[in-house]
Amino acid sequence: MENLLEVRNLTKNFKENKVLKGISFEVHRGEVLCILGPNGAGKSTTINILTAALGSDSGEIKFKGKQIGRKLRAYKQCMGIVPQDIALYEELSAEQNLKFFASLYGLYGAALNKAVNEALVFAGLDDRQKDKVKTFSGGMKRRLNIACAIAHHPELVIMDEPTVGIDPQSRNHILDSIKKLRDGGMTVIYTTHYMEEVEAISSRIIIMDHGTIIAEGTKETLKEDIENEKHYTIEVEENGRIKDSDFYAVEGVKSVKSDGGTIEITSLKGVENLDRIITVVSNCGDKIKNITSEAASLEMVFLKLTGRKLRD
Ligand SMILES: Nc1ncnc2c1ncn2[C@@H]1O[C@H](COP(=O)(O)OP(=O)(O)O)[C@@H](O)[C@H]1O
Ligand SMILES: [Mg+2]
Repeated sequence: MENLLEVRNLTKNFKENKVLKGISFEVHRGEVLCILGPNGAGKSTTINILTAALGSDSGEIKFKGKQIGRKLRAYKQCMGIVPQDIALYEELSAEQNLKFFASLYGLYGAALNKAVNEALVFAGLDDRQKDKVKTFSGGMKRRLNIACAIAHHPELVIMDEPTVGIDPQSRNHILDSIKKLRDGGMTVIYTTHYMEEVEAISSRIIIMDHGTIIAEGTKETLKEDIENEKHYTIEVEENGRIKDSDFYAVEGVKSVKSDGGTIEITSLKGVENLDRIITVVSNCGDKIKNITSEAASLEMVFLKLTGRKLRD
């Protein structure tokens, strides 16, 4: 496996706030590396340092084995960037935006026109190419922003939360287009706090929290530890009489977390104990409003690692 990027011991402080506490990872050629973490984890700071928009306090980044400091221009030339905040010219058309961004990477003439047309089709905006960006929906702008980052056929595309706040249709379009990029051999770094996206597109996953990498692997390897578990979420009409310890008395129950009217229980997979769990609730005179049972998910991995939900 060839390492396109090697990142070693990156640190970044904003005043007293230690935002990156020495993170290290590799990016393999041809993979979709998802960086998953809640808001404030340090994803954008990592991305901004990787794209050389921001300096780190310490640490090292190598691109194809060479420090990027010395080869910054060549490095940037090989890269496409989709920043967290949309960067487009509202008064220009989709086509004009694409031409502008692709020309920054040295494309011109027939090659530029070809790249722009391909990128418009890729974004599903070929029928709107002459329209000004200010007439576009949020999802269309997002798709165009991605098209601007890939028109020059970079080796590495870096996307920072490209689906936040857009309609489901555009979101699916974006996820599908990332799969297409991957199938075409492009390397993608993709940050998100949506675990469903990670499930859909990742070759490999880094989970970040509070400026550190707390887990790394494929979705399969990350879930290995919890494959033997099931997860119940029980919503009750809160009466304050249920104690967590009552659930621990039930065979198979491994962890209990209650928060107001919601009780989260992790239990061993092979043990049929739902009826006994329900009995605990009813013995306390409480009413169950809803019970759901979940298969192993990245959300559960995160919960197990941090004790919190990804979207808390
Ligand atoms: N320019 C900045 N100045 C001061 N603090 C910042 C700046 N950028 C980010 N931070 C802080 O760094 C932490 C991580 O932010 P960020 O990298 O944006 O996280 P994420 O992208 O995972 O949500 C947050 O606590 C945020 O407030
Ligand atoms: Mg961010």
